[in-house]
Amino acid sequence: MNEHSTASGTDTAPGGAGTGREMWGSRFGFIAAAVGSAVGLGNMWRFPYAAAEHGGAAFVLLYVIITFLVGVPIMIAEFGLGRSTRLSPIGALRRSGGPAWAPAGYLFVGAGFLILAYYSVIAGWVSRYALEAVLTPWPADAEAYFNEVSGNTSAVFYHLGFMALTLLIVAGGVKAGIERVSSFAMPLLALILVGIAVWATTLLGADEGYRYYLTPDFNELLSLDTLAAAASQAFFSLSLGMGAMLTFASYLQRDTSLPREATIVALSDFGIAFIAGLVVFPVIFAMGLQSAVSESTVGALFIAIPGAFVEMGAVGRVVGILFFVALFIGAITSAISLLEVVVSSVVDEWKMNRRKASIIGGIIIALIGILPARDLSVLNAMDRVAAEVFLPLGGLVLALLVGWGPAGRSLDAFAEGASPRTRSLLIGWRWTLRLAVPPLLIIVLSRTIPAGIDAIRAIGG
Ligand code: TRP
Repeated sequence: MNEHSTASGTDTAPGGAGTGREMWGSRFGFIAAAVGSAVGLGNMWRFPYAAAEHGGAAFVLLYVIITFLVGVPIMIAEFGLGRSTRLSPIGALRRSGGPAWAPAGYLFVGAGFLILAYYSVIAGWVSRYALEAVLTPWPADAEAYFNEVSGNTSAVFYHLGFMALTLLIVAGGVKAGIERVSSFAMPLLALILVGIAVWATTLLGADEGYRYYLTPDFNELLSLDTLAAAASQAFFSLSLGMGAMLTFASYLQRDTSLPREATIVALSDFGIAFIAGLVVFPVIFAMGLQSAVSESTVGALFIAIPGAFVEMGAVGRVVGILFFVALFIGAITSAISLLEVVVSSVVDEWKMNRRKASIIGGIIIALIGILPARDLSVLNAMDRVAAEVFLPLGGLVLALLVGWGPAGRSLDAFAEGASPRTRSLLIGWRWTLRLAVPPLLIIVLSRTIPAGIDAIRAIGG
């Protein structure tokens, strides 16, 4: 017996192994939920823009390397910690590392609060775009429309609506809520997006869009800022560094191979992000709206793309509806994973029931989100600090805990359910966590911490 099963054998904490924790209904359900968490606004909104900004295909290449060199190893670590302890982050870190590691769990939950609070604001804009694409005539002026949607009243209203929906799904439970929604929504999202990408190849001027997206500029790779951008994008997109994947794995049976599941999730996440770029740029370039892309990240998605759809007339309307529905699906399945971290922590730590925890957690986050809904500089600062500082910091904690600390002393928790060959690969995996991941994340943090501080200073300005 390894230390984990021993620990869970003497389980006293609420929600620990053997105390009837709710489990996923199927392996597919778990993967759908994990991919649902990963695939979201980060893929369809942040990724294409970051790639175009930072050297096109060269960035994509770097991003893939980081996804598999850093992202997959951290995901395996999160999966193993969650599955072996059957606890959410605070308890999982305490159980696997000892009391000294528990504060890091609070950092994770705090990151969940912050990220969901502003994520829901952007998701609220998306909700209105999707809804009005179906119900109302197209806006004539895309920029004026965006200003209205992101203006105080509308943004707060749709943010609260989106949070209410997120809360309802999470309150419904792991199987009946999260798994049920993700299992049908994620295949649908993939189908829609691939369909639109194929259609986009037929657009006049598409090749210019592809060129803008993918022309490699290898000079960009020499800059540490590009490295920091790729790494924080990878953490955000893969939902790593704050225990979302850890929490989902705490509902997982012991007979699945964690390295295999992590690879599947990472490949799906990258695939969707890459395909999103194959939609976004041809559409924008076909309509000659490239200037809007360089103005801001927000502009790329919320002004240029709808603007292009509007100009395409009836076809644009159909595609536009599909695009924003896909974006909405991505956003809601990601938001539920963020709320789940908070809810399951409250359930595990304070023995509160799920429904009550969902309502209280959801309401607090909804209230915090009113600030970024009313002020884009707050939203920007929250994104900088939570996504670019907290997540890499959380990744560093996980790499140290599993690579050097007590949690990785035995590999059993991570190897259970995997083939013997995969087991031997895990030795290399632990060395990656020990030697490659920490220095890389320290470099990333040395860039993102000053940028985060600047963003906080810029609030209100
Ligand atoms: N990965 C999601 C996206 O790309 C966002 C997200 C969901 C997330 N859960 C998370 C980000 C946990 C960081 C941590 O849109």
